[in-house]
Amino acid sequence: MRRKIVVGNWKMNKTVAESAELASAVVAALGNDCSACEAGIAPTYPALDAVGCTIKGSEVLLVAQNCHYEDDGAYTGEVSTGMLKAVGCSYVIIGHSERRQYFGETDATVNLRIKKVLAAGMKAILCVGETLDERESGAFEAVVSSQVTGGLQGVVDISDIVIAYEPVWAIGTGRTASSEQAQEVHKIIRNKVAELYGAAAAEAVRIQYGGSVKPSNAAELFAMPDIDGGLIGGAALKAEDFVAIVKAAC
Ligand code: PGA
Repeated sequence: MRRKIVVGNWKMNKTVAESAELASAVVAALGNDCSACEAGIAPTYPALDAVGCTIKGSEVLLVAQNCHYEDDGAYTGEVSTGMLKAVGCSYVIIGHSERRQYFGETDATVNLRIKKVLAAGMKAILCVGETLDERESGAFEAVVSSQVTGGLQGVVDISDIVIAYEPVWAIGTGRTASSEQAQEVHKIIRNKVAELYGAAAAEAVRIQYGGSVKPSNAAELFAMPDIDGGLIGGAALKAEDFVAIVKAAC
């Protein structure tokens, strides 16, 4: 039985003070109710430390939205895995479609980051997903499969990898993939993992769905056999909504 995982990706939202306040509200509303699943929150870099202190002692995990693939040096604007680990992050989101779309991330740079996260002793959430054009042309299976293969190139053990399927056309648009559409792609991803790593690894790997998940659709999505939780954007900015989604997963 795979343990579901729900992560709130706060993207470029909230000051440090606002982030600590939201984290505190999440912890208070969750109480001790989420031991059946994993819950994490991913604030901006400046807020990681404050949020880490706020959630200390709770079951909520600290997650980073990205990282660089070098240890340190002249990489203006970047943050290393060592820094994220030192501040208490247990997961790092890698290859989010907004990184791919606006910041030139490719499967090759995603792969470098994934390896760096694992080498640092953290876990990685590898994001994959097709655009609207790719969905409409029927190319989504090939696109998602090649993102999985490319992102995991040279990764021998995937026990510290979570995959997030996030159709780009469903992110922040209010347009959720139906639970059947999401399940279809989750199954494709699991089959791809079986091909690359064998049946046991495929059975164990957790695949989150992301894209306009809300309290009203979470339970239906999470009930699908290959959907193991969610990566939540907009709805994670309201403690009440995020906690309702976590509880749907538990
Ligand atoms: P959304 O974002 O829930 O606002 O659609 C999801 C994501 O980008 O992770």
